[in-house]
Amino acid sequence: MQQRKITAPDVAAAKNARKLTVITAYDAGQAALAEAAGADILLVGDSLGMVVLGQPDTLGVTMGQMLHHVSAVSAGASRALVLADMPFMSYQADVAEAVRNAGRLVKEGRAQAVKLEGGREIVPQVRAIVSAGIPVVGHLGLTPQHVAALGGYKVQARTAEAARRLVEDARALCEAGCFAIVLECVPTQVAALVTQDVPVPTIGIGAGPGCDGQVLVFHDLLGLYEGFKPRFVKRYAELAALIREALGEFAREVRSGEFPTGEHSFEMDPEEYAKLVSGLKKS
Ligand code: KIV
Repeated sequence: MQQRKITAPDVAAAKNARKLTVITAYDAGQAALAEAAGADILLVGDSLGMVVLGQPDTLGVTMGQMLHHVSAVSAGASRALVLADMPFMSYQADVAEAVRNAGRLVKEGRAQAVKLEGGREIVPQVRAIVSAGIPVVGHLGLTPQHVAALGGYKVQARTAEAARRLVEDARALCEAGCFAIVLECVPTQVAALVTQDVPVPTIGIGAGPGCDGQVLVFHDLLGLYEGFKPRFVKRYAELAALIREALGEFAREVRSGEFPTGEHSFEMDPEEYAKLVSGLKKS
């Protein structure tokens, strides 16, 4: 396994050579676990809002929150590429603001690349960020930051016309300089078509097996997030149930006095203890 840090050019070069594994992470411990499992990319997704911060969607995530978690993931990663989501309204309104915010994720958070949601409408932002020397990943299909306009979390590009627009968006993002594109919740055939059409790797989530890589949210694949399970999620463990059981056992043992035992406690030297007790009696 490659020991030096994976870079954006390494990811781009994986196209047609090997499948890319992407796992989201939000803190140093998760980063170390995902990296040890062989993840090529650690995505600090704005799914942070839902799976860590308890929010109903990704829209409320701030730059401050992203920076806090991106720094933690960067500290826990030694090999995998750290990719940071640009939160809602950190790049849409203004190109200069987009560059400044992307710069903060790199400079303060130590991210190696940023991800933006959208197609042709964000090409000026992508071009400007890439010109500043920051690698960019695109995100097409179901873009959760557009949930209000999309009318919910629905599969996208189901019609020939919508799929054609998606292919054009993917081409535009590549021309603007994206080194990879996330495809979320699009039909398998459309994702495979885009994958064959563009020169950069596609990373699918709910986009079928034809993509160049796959991404899942850490909490989803481990069964830690029980709020909602989209059809595209495969749970490789049921950790929430295990954690509930372990925490319940702790609470029961505290109440019954079974915990702590001598094994988890510290003894005072008996002579010191005797001195303490006699001293207290005299005073
Ligand atoms: O925010 C996120 O975790 C994402 C992935 C679902 C691709 O963007």
